[in-house]
Amino acid sequence: MSESFLQCAEESCQTRQPLGGLHHCGVCGGLLEVNYDFDQVSPESLRRIWAERKMSSEPADRSGVWRFRELLPFLAPGSPIITLGEGSTPMVETPRTGAWAGGVGLFVKHQGNNPTGSFKDVGMTACITQAATQKVNVVACASTGNTSSSMAAYASRAGMKAILFVPAGAVSAAKLAQAMDFGACVVEVGDTFDRAFQLLSEIASEIGFYLVNSINPFRIEGQKTISAELLEQRGWRAPDFIIVPGGNLGNVSAIGKGLRELRDLGLLKKVPRLVVVQAAGANPFYNMISAGSRELIPEANPLTDATAIRIGNPANWRKARRALQWTNGLCASVTDQEISEAKAILAGDGVGCEPASAATAAGLRKLCRAGKIEKGADVVAILTGNQLKDTDYILKRHSNENSTAWRVRAEPTLSDLRRVLQAHSLT
Ligand code: F0G
Repeated sequence: MSESFLQCAEESCQTRQPLGGLHHCGVCGGLLEVNYDFDQVSPESLRRIWAERKMSSEPADRSGVWRFRELLPFLAPGSPIITLGEGSTPMVETPRTGAWAGGVGLFVKHQGNNPTGSFKDVGMTACITQAATQKVNVVACASTGNTSSSMAAYASRAGMKAILFVPAGAVSAAKLAQAMDFGACVVEVGDTFDRAFQLLSEIASEIGFYLVNSINPFRIEGQKTISAELLEQRGWRAPDFIIVPGGNLGNVSAIGKGLRELRDLGLLKKVPRLVVVQAAGANPFYNMISAGSRELIPEANPLTDATAIRIGNPANWRKARRALQWTNGLCASVTDQEISEAKAILAGDGVGCEPASAATAAGLRKLCRAGKIEKGADVVAILTGNQLKDTDYILKRHSNENSTAWRVRAEPTLSDLRRVLQAHSLT
């Protein structure tokens, strides 16, 4: 059986310790990750097992995370899992957006099709399953909204209490409503994610909450299966680039870890280049990479309309830097205006997503224009959240006169309807 252990992700440390509930290395304080001495299994048999499970009606096989459970051997075979049928998200070609971005072949992998509408679910199933094995009763996170709704759903399913810490007035109402619908308790504290996260981190050990933020290494384990599913959907033909929006930088770290393990297991020959896109007002990682610096300088006052990625001090930046180094990756920064344009272009392909997700297409365009991504490149963008996660943003964007979409109030008479339609040249 594959052996599993926690290991410090710091290149200079790499201390191992047994699996447990810790997030930080006892020696250097760095973040931990779950690593494995994998069983020797041929790539062909892994591909075959994973494909065969698609025909099964077992809950573990129906999950787009646990179907790849040979990649998640931290859980003993046959152990109960907390699943809501996450993963198995669609890969959709977006020709208009690809042409607009710079003549690339673009597909989007839409993580907004998960049970609570974001990619967080593929990490949360692994993390809450692990928490259940440790008989955890109370889980907590700081969040810009999506982690909280996902945590609330999976905790509810597992019979755990969920407490979330959010920046006051800075999280979309839809996300908060979702979390509360699953019975979560909400503490509004501070005005940034970073402050809420810092306070929670300090109080969590004092009170004994189990943290499910992306510093939790089991979250990363679930999210890394995005790489496997993406490649399987493409017949194991790697794209040239995989683009993700970057906030706390857990997702890019997870996808990078997934690619690395798939390569080590012989399932992947060419490694796709990872691209992180940050929002211009919340881009400390971009600043570090573009300056060629080794240390991240936090942004004390992060600002962007893409509230999901309004983060100034990303916890996973070292893991993310390693993922970019390992895949010869790139980083871009895009303005709110560019995000808004990209979101409208994706909508023209019939694809809705939340603003943070649209940062991927905006970043792609920027990198094409800068000559860093060539015409004809084969690209997959990870759309991280569902369109309905932030309806305030959409209604605000379409309230101005230049918008192609509009709404007017008409009197309930045929004559007034004619008047309105004529006024908009629709007769
Ligand atoms: N896209 C969406 C829709 C998100 O909700 C997040 C993060 C990201 C991208 C960035 O992912 O943090 O792994 O780099 N949302 C977190 C939350 C922070 O609390 O929901 P990341």
